[in-house]
Amino acid sequence: MPTNTQPIPRRLFEPLRVGRLTLKNRIVMAPMTRCRAVDINVPSDLVVEYYAQRAGAGLIVTEATQVSVGAQGYWRTPGLHTERQCAVWRRAVERVHGEGGRIFVQLWHNGRIFHPDNVGPGLTPVAPSPIAANVRLMTPNGLRQASVPQELDARGIGNVTNEFVGAARLAVECGFDGVEIHAANGYLFDQFLHRSSNRRTDDWGGSIENRSRFLLDTTNAVCRSIGADRVGVRVSPLGTFNDVQDPEPDEIYRHLATRLTDQGLAYLHVIRPAVSGSLTLSAPIADPLPEIRSLYRGTLLVAGDLDVASADHLIDSGLADGVAFGRWFIGNPDLTERLRHGWPLAVADRAIYYSGGAQGYTDFARYERSRPATSTATAVRT
Ligand SMILES: Cc1cc2nc3c(=O)[nH]c(=O)nc-3n(C[C@H](O)[C@H](O)[C@H](O)COP(=O)(O)O)c2cc1C
Repeated sequence: MPTNTQPIPRRLFEPLRVGRLTLKNRIVMAPMTRCRAVDINVPSDLVVEYYAQRAGAGLIVTEATQVSVGAQGYWRTPGLHTERQCAVWRRAVERVHGEGGRIFVQLWHNGRIFHPDNVGPGLTPVAPSPIAANVRLMTPNGLRQASVPQELDARGIGNVTNEFVGAARLAVECGFDGVEIHAANGYLFDQFLHRSSNRRTDDWGGSIENRSRFLLDTTNAVCRSIGADRVGVRVSPLGTFNDVQDPEPDEIYRHLATRLTDQGLAYLHVIRPAVSGSLTLSAPIADPLPEIRSLYRGTLLVAGDLDVASADHLIDSGLADGVAFGRWFIGNPDLTERLRHGWPLAVADRAIYYSGGAQGYTDFARYERSRPATSTATAVRT
């Protein structure tokens, strides 16, 4: 986990144009699943306060949010496909806007990262091929092996695309400034992109053109529906989180960087392979960023184990237009102000990441009111 460092950066606090928005600074709150939903997949009222507290970011990207009942795989993750869900999200958006912030909702389909104990009755997972991920998921009954998925047929693929369009429209109705399509970290789109999880021989398997078709078609459909300047896409080049591998991982991100440029997105959001999911890797692999930057012609957001110095360097060198912080935002609702002033950062205990309830979620103090260590911040670092 990075710690705050001096000197205090400058360019992080400059405005940034993203699609139709001008962000007040270049600091993005990275999407983070926090497993606080109620009734399986309705966001709890706590999201209103949680995101409002973090509105100092130039842009908030919400936790990954299901596009349909069948898109869920984890426990207590929220959706955006019913009026009831929309009503809570609308209040969160209004509060963030009231605090001067901007907010995109991250939309996902878990695909084969699924366990039946986490979802409503009668649901089965779908994926490009019937190959189970070699991962264990947290469930109400402890850690469980991911289920074997069913292969999506052409009609099922079209249905998922429609679900993304439906959720994106609902997002606009709720007042969200845009949507981020989650194509990273081994979830459904990433499962199509990688050959370890995609053994298809039809139009969605084999060549990189085919394996990326589902993501590109869905992105295109969402762009046509709500406007490309309200759509971002998140990718994790060279990442293997959630058991995805490919013999030629470079061709995946090269192809996507080129083809996504054509779509005129609000942004492309790249996770550096310095992290895997929410963990920093001890030995980072190659750095795909310079090549992505040369191929992708739009606004680029970058995340992954950044600290102030590396974030500033990325912006100064032109490798990123905006930078996203994940774990730092958990324990520091006023992260932007702390970075601006070089104030100490609280470090949140991993045990509260997915623990449910207000504790470790909305109870982190702003710096001005900080105490030496709250119940959920294990330490305060300088
Ligand atoms: C608790 C937690 C939940 C996360 N959930 C998501 C998620 O829902 N969607 C996503 O794209 N990334 C998710 N991530 C990854 C973060 O967005 C980010 O890429 C990662 O934490 C690295 O950034 P950091 O080093 O600043 O924390 C999650 C990370 C954490 C710590």
